[in-house]
Amino acid sequence: MDPLNYWAIAERDIEIQNPITDRKLRLLDDYCDIRDGLSVLDIGCGKAWLMRQWADRHAIEGVGIEINPRFLEVARRKPPARGRLTFHSTSVKGFRVEPASYDIVLCLGASFAIGDIPATLDWMIAAARPGGTIVLGDITLRHPPVVSRGQVLPLDTIGMIGVIDRHDAEVSATISASDADFERYASHHRHATLTWAREHPDHPDHAEVLSKSRQDWLHYQREIRPVLGWTIFVARKYG
Ligand SMILES: C[S@@+](CC[C@H](N)C(=O)[O-])C[C@H]1O[C@@H](n2cnc3c(N)ncnc32)[C@H](O)[C@@H]1O
Repeated sequence: MDPLNYWAIAERDIEIQNPITDRKLRLLDDYCDIRDGLSVLDIGCGKAWLMRQWADRHAIEGVGIEINPRFLEVARRKPPARGRLTFHSTSVKGFRVEPASYDIVLCLGASFAIGDIPATLDWMIAAARPGGTIVLGDITLRHPPVVSRGQVLPLDTIGMIGVIDRHDAEVSATISASDADFERYASHHRHATLTWAREHPDHPDHAEVLSKSRQDWLHYQREIRPVLGWTIFVARKYG
């Protein structure tokens, strides 16, 4: 099974492809001081809900990089009312960006596409102009497990702020997913994949979709729900 097809099924009913709400994402309008003339780069933009909202209301120049063409079909469906959006249907790995050229660099839930958090911050900071804004949304540790099984755990928010500081940027705001936000996101995946499997009993990927869906669902219930959260960090690059 092509993993891109799996995610197209699991996320077919949602446009914000992260455990966060439209209301919380709207806070970024202020935190990023969104206005006409800004340039925005979105790494792993998916269906690009956030940039599309901004480009409907402001004359921004947005660029999205996304590996899944099915998501870009949605992103391109309706031209924005005021801004201009360009989408690159490719992997961020090897994608060349003019250094220090964007006012805002977004990476919401896609750091794994570049590597680890420090590598992602290197990439984002290099693309942002001095004084520009970076917006990184990622898994964070909320409650360290009582019994450690030796696994590598994500950083907590304090740890993330420290890493961002060491990348010459200052965090000015955080926005966190609630337990309900995360539960809704995981449940969307589970519900959409089970519905798809009922609708496509003879599809060659039927068994694999069901198997991955169950594995991810149990991973959420066992590993994610008790200890992990998801937080957006907004930071200004020094300069
Ligand atoms: C969790 S989703 C987030 C999508 C979007 N940023 C949002 O918040 O709605 C992660 C996205 O990264 C994309 N992605 C994964 N690997 C990638 C790569 N190597 N290059 C570009 N995009 C990638 C996925 O296809 C997916 O759309």
